[in-house]
Amino acid sequence: MIQYVTLLSLIVAFLLLLGVIFALQRVAKTRPDGGVVGESGFTLEGYSYALILLAVVAAVGICYVLVRDTLWAGHLMEWMNIVVRLMHITFGIAWIGASFYFVFLENALNRTDNVRDELAGNLWAVHGGGFYYLEKYKLAPKQIPKSLHWFKYEAYFTWLSGFSLLFVVYYFNASSMLVDPRVLDISPLAGVGIGVGSFIAGWLIYDGLCRTELVRSKWFMVVGFAVATAFAYFYAEIFSARAAYIHFGAMLGTLMVGNVFFTIIPAQKAMVKAATEGTPLDPTLGKNALARSLHNNYMTLPVLFVMVSNHFPSTFSHAYPWAILAVITLGTAGVKHWLNLREKHQSNAWVLPGSVALLLAVVFVTAPKAETGTAAAACTEEIPMSRVNMIVQTRCVQCHSSSPTDDVFKSPPNGVVYDSPEDIIRLKDKIMQRVVVTKTMPQNNKTDMTQEERDILKCWIEQGAKNL
Ligand code: HEC
Repeated sequence: MIQYVTLLSLIVAFLLLLGVIFALQRVAKTRPDGGVVGESGFTLEGYSYALILLAVVAAVGICYVLVRDTLWAGHLMEWMNIVVRLMHITFGIAWIGASFYFVFLENALNRTDNVRDELAGNLWAVHGGGFYYLEKYKLAPKQIPKSLHWFKYEAYFTWLSGFSLLFVVYYFNASSMLVDPRVLDISPLAGVGIGVGSFIAGWLIYDGLCRTELVRSKWFMVVGFAVATAFAYFYAEIFSARAAYIHFGAMLGTLMVGNVFFTIIPAQKAMVKAATEGTPLDPTLGKNALARSLHNNYMTLPVLFVMVSNHFPSTFSHAYPWAILAVITLGTAGVKHWLNLREKHQSNAWVLPGSVALLLAVVFVTAPKAETGTAAAACTEEIPMSRVNMIVQTRCVQCHSSSPTDDVFKSPPNGVVYDSPEDIIRLKDKIMQRVVVTKTMPQNNKTDMTQEERDILKCWIEQGAKNL
């Protein structure tokens, strides 16, 4: 019954969505100017798109509540995961692509050769079989053009879809994905509250710092990095390591979108308004917006790293995940700095090697350690398959079997199933990586696997993973 209700509500949500999109297209077609000019960026379209997204998120949320604890739950979660992730990546590419492009423009502008008085510079480019000529104004053109393109929805939707993904992956399953009792035994709801609250706190602290004189000095980077590291430490003390990583990235991502929403777009609106009304333009507005946009530029690579690292336990399984995060933030931001310098034709010999050295240091520090006494001791005799199978059957199949008994995972995670000894042998390399090296399985050690058992698995794999 419940499945049909869910299906029905999904269909209704989808039809609603189609209806709104159609209506919007009609509105767009019948508008005489066709573009967003002057006044605000808050157009009918803007509001409606945001509404659509919220409606979809709400519909999905309702569906989730409906299928909770049924056979459909795992299936729906996977599809939500796929769809929301795809949206997040697509919007993110559009946003960061445009952002990289404009920072490149700024860096590569020809500012001296044949530049008219009112211009800051220009740039010739060839792309997609066509020649382009762009000009940047020092302040604003004498007359604001009728159709002016704004870049903002990419940013907003990246954040909204990212925030939704945080719910799909971490918050809906907070007890198993977010909270790790070995780190801190908090209730799932408290975990979600701390996570969401930390984004607000992060923004308030960062925005506060940006309003001080510090923002004009080089020390801002140092203080900003220290604050970011403090956040990494805080997350690592509260959440499971993997969740700590994604929260660090999501917090930085929130600052980036906050910069667009609260500073850059309002500054641009004020500039357009002043230019339209012919009132004098406050040059600090543009400067502030440019500074924030540069901060965003430096945060991009660390955020991308965090998103990718979530799929690689060797990055977050270190004993001090916050330190790894801090060093990687420094290294990746350093690479971006080098790229920026290069675009400005300012070569700097040590920035790239320094950044790469930092990143290599992480590879080195996170490498598995040589064995301890017990591991060596377990290896003196040949380990029979029956012993290995027994360990896996007591510690893993709660989740990794064709019919899991775990309270959260109703279908085998990532399709990994250990129903037979052959399954175990086939997946031995992954077992080595997740159980022995990174110790990220069993998830949050929910099934209380002992170190001795890990040593036995290791030994068995090193002896050739034979089916004795
Ligand atoms: C409480 C449930 C749970 C238990 C118990 C558990 N796992 Fe997992 N396992 C997961 C989840 C969830 C994922 C997917 C997320 C991830 O990769 O961290 C996963 C992923 C994996 C992967 C990665 C598969 C891939 O495609 O990369 C391996 C390997 C794995 N588990 C092995 C094990 C082994 C071996 C055990 C027993 C020692 C075990 N797991 C116990 C929940 C569990």
